[in-house]
Amino acid sequence: MDEILKIEHLTKKYDDITVLNDISLTVKKGEVLVIVGPSGCGKSTLLRCINNLEDIQDGKVNIEGKTGMVFQSYELFPHMTVLQNLMLAPVKVQKRKKDEVKKEAEQLLERVGLSSKKDNYPAQLSGGQKQRVAIVRALIMHPEVLLFDEVTAALDPEMVREVLDVILDLAKQDKTMLIVTHEMAFARAIADRVIFLEGGSIIEDTTPAEFFDAPRSERAKSFLRTFEFEKVH
Ligand SMILES: Nc1ncnc2c1ncn2[C@@H]1O[C@H](COP(=O)(O)OP(=O)(O)O)[C@@H](O)[C@H]1O
Ligand SMILES: [Mg+2]
Repeated sequence: MDEILKIEHLTKKYDDITVLNDISLTVKKGEVLVIVGPSGCGKSTLLRCINNLEDIQDGKVNIEGKTGMVFQSYELFPHMTVLQNLMLAPVKVQKRKKDEVKKEAEQLLERVGLSSKKDNYPAQLSGGQKQRVAIVRALIMHPEVLLFDEVTAALDPEMVREVLDVILDLAKQDKTMLIVTHEMAFARAIADRVIFLEGGSIIEDTTPAEFFDAPRSERAKSFLRTFEFEKVH
């Protein structure tokens, strides 16, 4: 498989605090990488560095093509309908034809089960529906790599599933994805590979089976114990 993302010795600091420390990571086309780790370990910062939203102090981030990112907060424009939200960037930024973009938006909405909501405003949607629209908004830009940062963290439990199902569907279509999540059963099911970050460093980089059944580091073991209540298989 081809490499689509290559990070070499990435160091990111905020002032003099090192938030990412000598991160090296290669992701292949079609790979699904799940990134887990305790709050504050640098997961969001890593995605932001990949998405070119941060300047970095050392190292290199090389990516083939564009990235699309989905955040915990959907940030849809409240005064625009679902369809208008989806069409904005492809038409204004990518200068694509309105008809073609509209058709694609409708197809993608159908895929995520939201055809009937295309003319609704965000305030008329549930959290899970808004997050599915936000995923479509990323997809319609045709990114080579999709980045998901705790996209279900703000959702009520009954809406988590519908969003995770959309992401599972994308994995089946061989999309390259980097997923930050605290949903461990989902992580295990979707990951080709799991990265465990702590204190800005990669502590484990392994298969989901090994990470969840036989983590090598004490830190990963104690991290996973905090999820014991939701049995992962
Ligand atoms: N804009 C910022 N300025 C200063 N420190 C930040 C900023 N963003 C994040 N940090 C710090 O960087 C560290 C990693 O944050 P983050 O990447 O958000 O962690 P995670 O997503 O794993 O919870 C934390 O200690 C956080 O406080
Ligand atoms: Mg975060």
